[in-house]
Amino acid sequence: MVMLWLIVLLVLLERSNKMNKKQLQQIEELARVFYKKTGNYHDWGHVLAVKKHILNLLREIDRANENLLLAACYLHDIGRSVKDEGHPAESVRLASPLLKKVGLSKAETDIILDAIEFHTAPEICQAKTLEAKILFEADKLEILSVAGFLRTLLFVIEERKMSLSAGLDFLWSYAREVQKKYLWTERAKSVAKREMKVLGQVYIFYKRWQSRYWKQKE
Ligand SMILES: [Fe+2]
Ligand SMILES: [Fe+2]
Repeated sequence: MVMLWLIVLLVLLERSNKMNKKQLQQIEELARVFYKKTGNYHDWGHVLAVKKHILNLLREIDRANENLLLAACYLHDIGRSVKDEGHPAESVRLASPLLKKVGLSKAETDIILDAIEFHTAPEICQAKTLEAKILFEADKLEILSVAGFLRTLLFVIEERKMSLSAGLDFLWSYAREVQKKYLWTERAKSVAKREMKVLGQVYIFYKRWQSRYWKQKE
């Protein structure tokens, strides 16, 4: 009998330590506020696009904790409300008190913060959790998509003051590097292959147009 009560107690303790849908909803609401100040190119729309990639990747990788992953997704770019360079560390700083407020356990908080802290390349190599690897891949897949690539191009032109040509060269080589070095799931590789094919055609078209334009000017 004592053993039975002990098991019930352990089950209840385990459940009380698990993040629930209500807590996830609270995190979503708290995170959304920050995206009003993250600029036009990393707004809530970017988060929803990353979420869509996460849900797709989870169809291949079912060992990850979906709720923790979505919480990390909602919070991963909130640091951009303060600064662009070094925003993952800023996101961690801002997210920590929110996760405490919502009442998450230390183990859950550590997983979410690990994913937020290492969601850029090459920092992802320091991540310890599967959730971090999935968030990273979903965030990068968003840039490798046609819509995400254009969004990021406008971001580097407007906020990092790059010319169209320099921005395009920079992003194209970044996208190629991510595709070659960092994608690890079959699903991500297949999505990237499809999107990069279109982007590659646009890039070549632009390069040809650019060389014709300069020849006419000479
Ligand atoms: Fe980011
Ligand atoms: Fe992001």
